[in-house]
Formats: sequence, C-alpha cells, structure tokens
Amino acid sequence: MRDAEMSQILLDWYDRHARDLPWRISPDASRAGIRPDPYRVWLSEVMLQQTTVAAVKAYFERFIRLWPTVSDLARAEDAAVMAEWAGLGYYARARNLLKCARVVAGEHGGAFPPTAEGLRQLPGIGPYTAAAIAAIAFGAQATVVDGNVERVMARLFDEHMPLPKAKPILTAHAANLTPPERAGDYAQAVMDLGATICTPRSPACGICPWRNPCLARQRGTAATLPKKEPKKAKPVRFGYAYVGRRADGAWLLETRPERGLLGGMLGWPGSEWGDAPDPAPPAEAEWRLLGAEARHTFTHFHLRLQILTAELPPSAKPAAGEFLLAREFRPSALPTVMRKVFDLASTAFQPIENTSTNR
Ligand code: ADE
Repeated sequence: MRDAEMSQILLDWYDRHARDLPWRISPDASRAGIRPDPYRVWLSEVMLQQTTVAAVKAYFERFIRLWPTVSDLARAEDAAVMAEWAGLGYYARARNLLKCARVVAGEHGGAFPPTAEGLRQLPGIGPYTAAAIAAIAFGAQATVVDGNVERVMARLFDEHMPLPKAKPILTAHAANLTPPERAGDYAQAVMDLGATICTPRSPACGICPWRNPCLARQRGTAATLPKKEPKKAKPVRFGYAYVGRRADGAWLLETRPERGLLGGMLGWPGSEWGDAPDPAPPAEAEWRLLGAEARHTFTHFHLRLQILTAELPPSAKPAAGEFLLAREFRPSALPTVMRKVFDLASTAFQPIENTSTNR
C-alpha cells in the first residue's frame, strides 16, 4: 500500500474517532482550515511530556482559566505557576514553561514562531515538542515521534530492533507516512491510535484502521513490539523530612533551590537524599519519628523518606524554611512526594480551632 493511501486511511479514521480533548479543535474545523491556538497547543504538549492525557486535562483547564494567553502566563508569579504545576512532576518543565512564555511575550510580541526550527530555539522545547507544535498549530509537515508513534511504527513495519537503537528507523517510517496536508491531524491520529487501539499490552487489532497493511498483525507479533533494551535497576536513596507546626497552626516549609530536583517547589525541610544521610532538623524541637515512611520514585532513583514531626514554640527561629500561615497553605501546591509526606504526617497533629486548611 502506498504511503499516501495509508495516511489517508488514518485521517479518515481520525475524522470519525478523534478524541475530544480540551486543547484540540474538531477534525471538521481542521478540514475547514481552522487552526488551534498555538498557546494552547504548546501548553498541552509541554504538560503531556511524560504525563498521561487523563492526568493533564484538569491541569490544562485550570492553567487556561488562570492565564488565558501566553502574555498572561508571562506576567504570572513564579511561585503561583509552580503551585499550579504541583503534582504533574518533572518540575524543570514548569520552570522552562515560564521562561518560554516570557521569551515569546517579550521577544516575539506574544506570537510563537511558526516553524520547528524557530520553536526549537525556545526554552524547554525539544525536537518532539517543536515538531508537534509546528504540525498541530501551524500545519507544517513535521514528523512527530513520541512513545505512541514508536509503538505504532514498530508494529506496522514489524521492526524487532530494540529501542532506543531503533529510534532512527521508526522515525524514518513516521516521516515517510506524514502527509503534506493535515500533518497535525495525522500526528494526533497516530497518538490516538496508540492510546486507544494500538495499546502496549493487548492491541485491539480487529478494529484497527491499519489492520490490513500492519506487518506485525499479519505475523502475530504485535503484542511483543516494540522491543526495548532492558532498563537499569534504580538505586534507593534515603532521607529525612521534617513536618513542624507552630502553635498558631503555621507550617514550616521551604521553597527548594531553583537548581536540582523539585527546583522552585514548596516542600518540607530535610536532609540530603543519599545512602545514609545525616538528620538535619530545621529547628530545635522534640522531633518525633513517625512510624511510616514516604516512598516515591523519580526518574533515576527510588526515595524513602523518614518523617519527623514536632509542635514548634511561638518563638521558634528555624535554621531552614519559613512559616506559612495555615490559611495560606494549600497541600495541592506541594509536589507529590511532599504531599505524601504531609498526608502521612497529618495523623500526628491534632486539629487547631479556627484555622482552616485549603486543599
Ligand atoms: N500526547 C502528546 N500530545 C498529544 C496530543 N496532542 N493529543 C493526544 N495525546 C498527546
């Protein structure tokens, strides 16, 4: 089957089955030549890096409500944006998001560059995101390759070379199939196919629009593809986290340094994370070890945090962190690992009259 015929089959399928997602326009609108707002496309693509569509939807809608244009986002306070991003993970993305918004608003008059090359120059925009925005928001014939696309291509061409080595081959297949018209719809069609039919474990080949040309389906190998090089086991790191509350209900929290893990995010003061870190209480108090530890997995390691709690005197002068009044503290502004710490530590504190915690 010719490439153009294959692409057309998928576009026809997309016209009928495209997922209705908040950053998209309908296939009908797209066929009529309408393009989605580049700001919405950019925001969604940055959020969708390493995170699922289901997790992103609510965050996307909230960001758009708070900051409807890239210039609004550029004017936002860093801490406000980091707090809204909390829970999405990979916090360097949020720092770069703000940097990028400020460059687009300040140096490009609020308009995103329309080509993949131009987009690549912006903070936080790598080859994948540049191609996705160029194709979806500007109609450029750019090849978009994410995990879904790799899986679909590996199966369509029955490619058994493991990832990441196979990436250039799968990218070449994806490039050959990318049509000159509607490249953005085509890219999103492959993503939708990968998310709903050509799924990792049990692909629904019987209802796939590409069931006839798919080599893996013909050979019965679909569920075993793509092959992947075995991943290295992640090491375990340990640390201490200190949850202190003053008599008036204020919590001792710190804004983490810009550089490094969870950079710029709110968190509980604590030790280094390593093999056998020294405890590092942020203030003098009777710190009590909580029985439960918080566990969280980052890209390169598993973390286990021992949690200590204390009631701090009104006169407490902490060596690390600052007190945040209970009414100003939203647990949802914490990154997930710090939220886990808080949820476990909460059991150690009695409620205080006349203070409210805003979730
Ligand atoms: N994953 C990344 N970008 C996407 C998009 N535009 N639609 C669906 N899933 C995606």
